[in-house]
Amino acid sequence: MAPYRDALPVHGLVFLFVPFAGMEGASSSQNLGFLNRTIDHNPNTRIFGVEFDVFANQEFSDIKDNHVGINLNSLTSIFANEAGYWPDSRR
Ligand SMILES: *[C@@H]1O[C@H](CO)[C@@H](O)[C@H](O)[C@H]1NC(C)=O
Repeated sequence: MAPYRDALPVHGLVFLFVPFAGMEGASSSQNLGFLNRTIDHNPNTRIFGVEFDVFANQEFSDIKDNHVGINLNSLTSIFANEAGYWPDSRR
């Protein structure tokens, strides 16, 4: 991840909470190394993730390129917000 404007920024990262060891079928080059498309939306995976994404994937309804998302068993976030820094004085 690098702060360059108008350049393809790689992918991002995701912190995962999983009820097992190892992530079979995940790709380091797609979907943040998270789920694959076969098991996306499968409630039996019981995976919770917090993604720090820098790319807007339309197929996952990403709100914009630079965002933080909460994911439950899915590559599509159940909640997302623009990533950034807002000092207390702006509230
Ligand atoms: C997707 O992930 C599941 C569970 O890890 C795995 O069993 C399956 O083989 C993977 N599918 C692909 C196409 O990699």
